[in-house]
Amino acid sequence: MRLDDVVASFARLDFPTPGEAELPARDTVQAARSIVERAVADDDFLLDCMALELALIASNSPRNGLVPFLTLADSGIRMAFGFWPPHGGPGVHEHTAWTITGVCRNELEVRTYDRAASYSTGALVDKNLFTASAGKVGYIYEPGIHAPRNPTRDWSMSIHVISPRDGLPLADHEDAPPELRPAAAPPVHAYARVMAARRKQRWLRQLAQIAASTGSPLAPARLAACFDLGSTATRAYVEDLGGVVAHDSSSRYLLRRVAHGLVLRQQSTPDGSALAVETPGGLVREIETGDIARAALRYAAERELIDVAALPGALDEEERFALGMALEESGLFERVRAT
Ligand SMILES: [Fe+2]
Repeated sequence: MRLDDVVASFARLDFPTPGEAELPARDTVQAARSIVERAVADDDFLLDCMALELALIASNSPRNGLVPFLTLADSGIRMAFGFWPPHGGPGVHEHTAWTITGVCRNELEVRTYDRAASYSTGALVDKNLFTASAGKVGYIYEPGIHAPRNPTRDWSMSIHVISPRDGLPLADHEDAPPELRPAAAPPVHAYARVMAARRKQRWLRQLAQIAASTGSPLAPARLAACFDLGSTATRAYVEDLGGVVAHDSSSRYLLRRVAHGLVLRQQSTPDGSALAVETPGGLVREIETGDIARAALRYAAERELIDVAALPGALDEEERFALGMALEESGLFERVRAT
């Protein structure tokens, strides 16, 4: 089953159009759940979705929560991947309209809460706790509160099919327990782009690993996309998976600072030199080296664009390469992609 088949099957179901306020019948959502269940079992469906996800990653659009890789034109239904690090999850949240969740890789543990009791008491009231392994697809039809979490030491990936009305406030929203009320958005700091750059590389390695494990004829193109978007370390990871042969592994490449407003400082330390970055919580040292890299770190702190081969100081090629890789892995700089 391919993504096009899923889109066509959804189009045959009786979902309201995006402008209609009515909700679909329960049977319709159940039928959609069955389609997603068959699709999640097919690697080619996941690899089709992954192509759109990689395009989303390439666009570098800011990510906060689940970001759809696809929105269906005739129903407004959104599809998004969730990537959950070991023991990670999105925290407790409410769905105000129907949603379908499928586990694509590894497993999720889902705690659910009694919505009526939580709203009437003003505190979250536990209802259920269950584990869903890869291939399991569930849905909620009425508004519901839950907290999915990856209970394992490996990464988990989920797919979410989301009603266009999910997230719209319901009539009783003022009675919500405090945990469900939207937090005031913190001011966006340039350092958020650093964290996003690191997260992006972790996701790319997960996607590459999943693509490689399928053995599908679609996998090489996904691996090539992961390689293209990857840092030097991610590229090496993708090469080790056997999907891509690098044509140019020289250290002659450019790195660009991930955000314009990002403030970097080269600092002296008892053991040599460090590169620190201004964060909302103050200066944080991201790279600490011996004295030999002092000039190179000062150079990095002062520039938006770095030629790794031109890092100054008494460094040999291998040391320049290692320092370039450290600058990428810190999330402070990203490789400039060939256009
Ligand atoms: Fe959820």
